[in-house]
This record gives sequence, structure tokens and C-alpha cells, in this order.
Amino acid sequence: MLSESHDVPTRALYEELPYPGDGVVRTPVARNLRRALAEHRSDLLRKPGLRILDIGCGTGESTLGIARLFPGASVVGIDVNEASLARARDLANRTAPDVRILRCDIVDELPRALTTGPLAGEPAFDVLVSSGVLHHLSDPAAGFQAARRVIAEDGLFLCWVYSRYGRWDDQAVKALAQSVVPPSSAFAARANVIRQLGLAKKHTPADFLRTLGVRMRFGPPIAPIELLRVYLRRNVATHVADTYANPCEHYFTFAELESLVERSGWRCLGLARGFGMPTTPDEHSRDPRVLTVLRDTPRSALYDYFAYAYGAWGFGVLLDATPAQ
Ligand SMILES: C[S@@+](CC[C@H](N)C(=O)[O-])C[C@H]1O[C@@H](n2cnc3c(N)ncnc32)[C@H](O)[C@@H]1O
Repeated sequence: MLSESHDVPTRALYEELPYPGDGVVRTPVARNLRRALAEHRSDLLRKPGLRILDIGCGTGESTLGIARLFPGASVVGIDVNEASLARARDLANRTAPDVRILRCDIVDELPRALTTGPLAGEPAFDVLVSSGVLHHLSDPAAGFQAARRVIAEDGLFLCWVYSRYGRWDDQAVKALAQSVVPPSSAFAARANVIRQLGLAKKHTPADFLRTLGVRMRFGPPIAPIELLRVYLRRNVATHVADTYANPCEHYFTFAELESLVERSGWRCLGLARGFGMPTTPDEHSRDPRVLTVLRDTPRSALYDYFAYAYGAWGFGVLLDATPAQ
């Protein structure tokens, strides 16, 4: 049962424009997860009945992508937003009916989900995934702490959250849009004005080609038909509103993120590969002068630099449930 005590600052946005709302099963997150498990926890890849939880599944496109790439796994998606959940259930019914899509608030309900909540009596999850969600909580630390309560001791968490330097320009556009477009209007109307004025630099054909190039270089491996279907089905107003009119978002330097997750009971293993930027200096450049600088650069600054250089929106980090020493 849902407690209404906790504020969900993005509720109005996602009620009006459930995200991503494209209605196409998407596999990039699943591909990155499979790569991360192969590199860090290949035992989990072989585990029968692997339990995977997608925290903040939205309209379920990536959750169903995980089900597609992990056919023997037990996959659960949770979200607080009824409009999104309805679409996610519809997509699940059409593509993978065994996937469970549940209403569950991350902060209020997830910590008790395995005891008195919607998953009562079930074992902890082997793998958690959360893409583009915890930075939208008023208190992201509460989200990381909640996730920590539902993972097995030897589990792995793949979490993607916004980078401060990867989204520096969006923050300027968002502030400008707020002063030009009255925040009282509906989100779709705001998104349309933002597009008409040419403020949206993302979600344009040029940006699509740029990100395609980065993705071909660093992964995840492209699934051309899926990519084309997503591009053709894309509800641009939803994506523009999410990027430029979101009522609550936090941005992190890598050091800020690392400190936050470690205070929340996690150990940060580093960046997962495949989220639109390199993870080592050698993937970035062959220029010996560049490499001389970057090989001496501390990890957190290196990752901030990569996020900035590639306009990577966020960090896909791998966390394990062993607290930092
Ligand atoms: C940007 S969408 C991401 C959806 C999905 N993970 C994806 O990448 O396609 C953020 C989602 O987080 C959900 N969310 C925000 N606060 C939440 C909370 N307190 N509990 C559960 N879900 C929440 C929203 O309803 C929304 O569906």
C-alpha cells in the first residue's frame, strides 16, 4: 500500500508525459548490463532464475529490453507513476508477460518491499538497475539507501545518473527557458515553445547523429532496427520536457557521486562501459601529449573530463553492496 507522505517532485511531469513513452522495447541498458556482468560478475550471468529489479522503470521499454536479453531471469520493474505503469504493463503483456510491473515508491516503500511490501517473502535481488531516476528524487541519497535494502550481499547495482559537466549546457538552456516560458503552462506546451524558439539543442536530428557516432565508438552495440523504430516512434515533446523542464534534477561530479553512494552504503567499482564515453585514457586518444596528462589525472577528474568532452549526459556506475572500507 502506498504511503502518500513522501513528496514526488516529478509527479506532474510524468503523469502528463509518461517517460519515455515510445512503446518500443529498448535494449541499450540491457546490453550495458550484460557487458558489466561479463566483466565484473560472470557468475551472475550463469545464475539460474537471476533476480533483476529495475528501479523507476517508467513506461517499461528498458525493463522489457532486460527481459529480452536475460531470458531466464525473473525481472521486476517498479515505478510510482500510474500513467507510466499502465503503459509498461501494456508493453509487458505484448512482449514478455512474465515481467512484473509494480507500483512502489522508492523512498517510502522500497526499503520494506521484501518484508511487508509488494514483494513480501521474496529473496533479495541479485542485480539492480536504475536508469535516469535517482537524480529526480528530492533526496537522491534516500534512493541509494532504499536500493541497498533490497540487494543480495553479493549483488551488483548498475545505476545511471546525470553528470554535472555532461549537462552543463542543458542547465543554462533550462534556466533560460524558465525565464522565457511561463512554468505554469502544461509540460507539452512548454516543450513546444522551447522547440519553436530553437532552445532545445538535444533531440534534434544533428544531436541524434552526434550521439549515434559516440555510441558506435563506445557502445552499447547498435541494434539498427530497434534504433530506427525508437527514432521514428519518439515523442519529442516528452523528451524535450524531460530534458529542459524537469521540476527536479540533481547533477553530480564523479567525486560527488562517489561520496554520495559510499555514504549510502555502497562501494563504487567505477564506470560501466557503454554509456557514451570512454572509460580509459587510451580509449579517448592516441596523442601521446594527451595521454601524458590523462594518465596522471585522478579517476574522478578523468571521468568529469570525459563527460564534458563527449557531452555524455550521465555516469553509468557499478556499485556493489560491500561497504567501502
Ligand atoms: C526519466 S524516467 C526514467 C524511466 C526509465 N528508467 C527509463 O530510463 O526509460 C524517471 C522515472 O522515475 C520515476 N520516479 C520518480 N520518483 C519516483 C519514486 N519516488 N518512486 C518510484 N519511481 C519514481 C518516475 O515516475 C519516472 O517514471
